[in-house]
Amino acid sequence: MKADEVQKVGVVGAGIMGSGIIEVIARSGQDVVFVEISDEKVASGRGAVEKSTGRALDKGKLTEADREGILGRITGGTDVEAVAEVDLVIEAATEDLEIKKELFAAFDRLTRDDVILATNTSSLPIAELAAQTNRPDKVVGMHFFNPPPVLKLLEVVRGLQTSDETIEFARAYGERIGKTTVLSKDRAGFIVNFLLVPYLNSAVQMLDDGIASKEDIDAAVQLGLAHPMGPLTLLDLIGLDTALYISGVLYDEFKDPIYAAPTLMKRMVSAGYLGRKSGRGFYDYSK
Ligand code: CAA
Repeated sequence: MKADEVQKVGVVGAGIMGSGIIEVIARSGQDVVFVEISDEKVASGRGAVEKSTGRALDKGKLTEADREGILGRITGGTDVEAVAEVDLVIEAATEDLEIKKELFAAFDRLTRDDVILATNTSSLPIAELAAQTNRPDKVVGMHFFNPPPVLKLLEVVRGLQTSDETIEFARAYGERIGKTTVLSKDRAGFIVNFLLVPYLNSAVQMLDDGIASKEDIDAAVQLGLAHPMGPLTLLDLIGLDTALYISGVLYDEFKDPIYAAPTLMKRMVSAGYLGRKSGRGFYDYSK
């Protein structure tokens, strides 16, 4: 299968990342079949794309016909068997290795032999997911960035068994949907999170140590380094639970304290202060 022959893509998981990936693919003209674990999650995944394309319509960036075309190309459901008819699978489920392993075994069973199985994992080993299949050469990381419709980067991750053809396919498909690709080895954090996680964790530690207020930490980075947002606002966007999980994976892999999650982050996750998605993180999003 060549990247320009892909007509229908299966996206598994329609949370923050999955719904953004669904939008990117439908906007670039392919059909998307997505799978979630409940009818409510199917509805909220679709709702996220409706909202995002609705904003683009209001701003005059999309016509009503474009928007209808995009939404018409998207079908959602709760049965993973729907991937049987797709030309490419992109898994964007919860960052839980056991869940992802089960999914990859199911994709292997259900899809045509030539279908490439990609994962949007931000830190879990590609090799371990590949090992669940009879086509480890066709398993690859395709890691998008939040929000996927806006950020241009796609990290392509080569597992130990991933073939050159699969890497070529992932890069070509990434370009087809408007992304710029970079290639990383299968090492926790790949390129971006390897650099980002210690920085974000240091910002939380700095706040907990009382070195500066959250507003000043964020303003310092935004205005002094020209980042689009400061680290605490960015953590609220990523989700503190996700950031905590990624820190754990990096720490397990390297045993270097720079990856250890700060105590304040752990306590905030226990308290349900997960960021934008729960209405409260470092900042309040309830209104
Ligand atoms: N979906 C679709 N479009 C969105 C969007 C979303 N969720 N959020 C914003 N946009 C669009 C807006 O509609 C707007 O589009 P136009 O320019 O066409 O009008 C554009 O993005 C800019 O948005 P806003 O004007 O509302 O706000 P902004 O200029 O402050 O940008 C932002 C918002 C794009 C989130 C920007 O602040 C940003 O890029 N922040 C940094 C995000 C970042 O670092 N992400 C990486 C996270 S790490 C990661 O993802 C890896 C991991 O594994 C954890």
